[in-house]
Amino acid sequence: MAIMVMHQVALITGCSSGIGYETALTLARNGFQTFATMRDTKKSNSLAKTSEKEKLALKILELDVNDDKSIENAINRVKSEAKRIDVLINNAGYGLVGFFEDLTLDEIRNQFETNFFGVLNITKKVIPIMRLQKSGTIVNISSGAGQVGFPGISAYVSTKFAVEGFSESLMYELSPFGIKVIIIEPGVLKTNFFRNCVISEESTKNGSPYSRPLDKIQKNIDLMQEHATSPTDVAKMILQVLSNDEPKQRYIVGNDVAMILEAKRNLSDIEFKKMMMQNII
Ligand SMILES: NC(=O)c1ccc[n+]([C@@H]2O[C@H](COP(=O)([O-])OP(=O)(O)OC[C@H]3O[C@@H](n4cnc5c(N)ncnc54)[C@H](OP(=O)(O)O)[C@@H]3O)[C@@H](O)[C@H]2O)c1
Repeated sequence: MAIMVMHQVALITGCSSGIGYETALTLARNGFQTFATMRDTKKSNSLAKTSEKEKLALKILELDVNDDKSIENAINRVKSEAKRIDVLINNAGYGLVGFFEDLTLDEIRNQFETNFFGVLNITKKVIPIMRLQKSGTIVNISSGAGQVGFPGISAYVSTKFAVEGFSESLMYELSPFGIKVIIIEPGVLKTNFFRNCVISEESTKNGSPYSRPLDKIQKNIDLMQEHATSPTDVAKMILQVLSNDEPKQRYIVGNDVAMILEAKRNLSDIEFKKMMMQNII
């Protein structure tokens, strides 16, 4: 009698590069039937080639987290092809750079549309599937900036704090249905993230009162990038979390984020602020 092997089905957003790209390959290489989604499938060449070469169970689908129809189409494809979704990885995101006074509300709203409402929109459509299955894991990619404020990226930080609060609350709501909600908090990574950051228009103009501190932050980020963590470490962490029957709620990835969270835990608010002002601004 043939034995049917049930592969876990994973849906990942933002797989054109970085964490999404590496996680899609890592999960597929480890037996997950993987639906790697991206908003622009013209960027899928490298992922498609690697997947074909290694004969992976990986399918590339179009999904823009800001587009309701595109989310619906992708989820319907997964439902019709795999009949279930065991793992949802909300990864797609970008950074908006600029001191708050230099940000427009539209720039901030766009930042929230992708990094926060994008997460909510997909999660809302996947929960009923997982609830009927009585199982599933939702992995939300937050950041060290989901726990600590940073100057020059207040809007980005706010989206990640929002993701953290949402995830922490959802964990309680979904636990009775056998659905886990996990938060991943990476530090600075070697991905396209910093290249893809949107720089607020006002902060690029001459005369912004924040151009000097923004320059300093940019230089610090460039320095940190030299020792940045590889996105494969995040992918490995996600695989480890998915293999754990009783995972924790939060996982950090990278020494930088470990150090800053430890400092925030151990120092007084005044000492922590002093340290941040000396090192960052
Ligand atoms: N890099 C870091 O230092 C770092 C640290 C902590 C947390 N994170 C978080 O990690 C996640 C992944 O970032 P990454 O470092 O891997 O950066 P990345 O290489 O720039 O990847 C970001 C991915 O998100 C996609 N994306 C952006 N807007 C989208 C939308 N509307 N719909 C669908 N996909 C969209 C991008 O697609 P396109 O190629 O089409 O733009 C890309 O695939 C983000 O949530 C980020 O906030 C990053």
